[in-house]
Amino acid sequence: MIWDADLYKTKHAFVFEYGNSLIGDWLQPQAGETVLDLGCGTGELTAQLGATGALVTGIDASPEMIATARQSFPEVAFEVGDATNFSLPQQFDAVFSNATLHWVREKEKAINRMYTHLKKGGRLVIEMGGKGNVDSILRTLDRVMQAKGYHYAPFWYFPSPGEYATLLENAGFRVERVHFFDRPTKLADPEKGIVDWLEMFGNHFFANIPENDKQAILQQVQQELRPQVTRDGQLYADYVRLRVAATKI
Ligand code: BEZ
Repeated sequence: MIWDADLYKTKHAFVFEYGNSLIGDWLQPQAGETVLDLGCGTGELTAQLGATGALVTGIDASPEMIATARQSFPEVAFEVGDATNFSLPQQFDAVFSNATLHWVREKEKAINRMYTHLKKGGRLVIEMGGKGNVDSILRTLDRVMQAKGYHYAPFWYFPSPGEYATLLENAGFRVERVHFFDRPTKLADPEKGIVDWLEMFGNHFFANIPENDKQAILQQVQQELRPQVTRDGQLYADYVRLRVAATKI
């Protein structure tokens, strides 16, 4: 997947803005600790982690994201790396990951990589989309695509708390804290926020669809969703979050 790092930063900044409490309340990094930020995107949260005095490394599968991160935060270490197979020459005191792991369908491989890169006693703190995430968008997309003769195939991995905790336990983690909650998320553009969101994150759904049909689908999805996702003139996506803190034992 090729990412438009500029569009991500300007219209989808909520992805990293919501990560603040994950750092302050959940991870609570200490000065001098080594922290790996898995799926760092354009590096905003990585830089924030670094500002606490932690020694941070950000990795992301997208070379475009890493190029932007390096340009914005030249003092921070960034590497291109895939969650399922990255290999770094050190183990960390903590692994942190925000809004990345739902992209990784080979979830056991990602959990194995995170475990391997933690020191014994090291902390894992993650947030990802949880079961039911963006359900209204995806159900509407499914219906509209079918009505136009196209097949919708689910793409992301949005686990329940029990499912993900079990995977972590099976890998050797002790799960310390879980929070599963709704977080309706305001989209940047009150007119075409749903279209923008699907174009930014859901382009894989349209890989084999001609551009004019794609645009018709996007417009219809937004039109059908608008009444149920509008509040005070703003459009909201029905995000469901799963947060987990665990320790390598
Ligand atoms: C999320 O953060 O929940 C998410 C973002 C983009 C696509 C799917 C889910």
